[in-house]
Amino acid sequence: MNRLILALDVYEKERALRIARETKEFLWGIKVNWPLIIGAGLRIITELKQVTGLPIIADLKLADIPNTHRLIAKKVFEVGADYLITHGFVGKDSVKAVMELGETIIVVEMSHPGAKEFIQPVTDRLIELANELEPFGVIAPATRPERVRYIRKKLHKSIKILSPGVGAQGGKVGEVLKAGADYIIVGRSIYNAENPGDAAKNIWGEINANAKG
Ligand code: XMP
Repeated sequence: MNRLILALDVYEKERALRIARETKEFLWGIKVNWPLIIGAGLRIITELKQVTGLPIIADLKLADIPNTHRLIAKKVFEVGADYLITHGFVGKDSVKAVMELGETIIVVEMSHPGAKEFIQPVTDRLIELANELEPFGVIAPATRPERVRYIRKKLHKSIKILSPGVGAQGGKVGEVLKAGADYIIVGRSIYNAENPGDAAKNIWGEINANAKG
């Protein structure tokens, strides 16, 4: 099974489409974040889907009231996003507003050092929220495999763990897969590489080697 997700955090539409074409055979899906949406417009989601045929994750990390979540999610799913990422700390009603419109992924912890200040102290409650609502998946940090292991233990088996932080942020494929991640999200190590296709192929190979072992 392919478990690699490309975080396509570039601004330019043509560059994004080129990298998507060069890497698509090694990917499970593509994650689109604010940089690309700001640079290329929301319709880039439709174009990436047409060019690659892959699932597209809109990583907007929503953190607003239910009505605003509804307004945003409606448009994002309309243009073809298959999954939408929302923060969980805004509460059940805001998360449910997204889940009513499409497949949802909840942030339960983050990979950067600052995550320890406010998010990590409430991770247990965010896991409980996920277990209650049963979204497609949660985001957990590849930079802290021990936290991925902890989250995997507490999370319902049916909920996937998607893990960013491999490569540029220091996370290691083998460690995070062993800890229980289902999908690995990689951005800079692929899109900033001289040859993004080769970089994606190498990480894909590493994932497969570790998944078998
Ligand atoms: P890099 O370039 O570091 O890109 O490989 C990682 C991508 O994933 C996002 N990211 C996160 N998203 N929780 C999240 O919800 C996290 O802990 C986290 N860490 C990184 C980041 O925005 C980029 O698109």
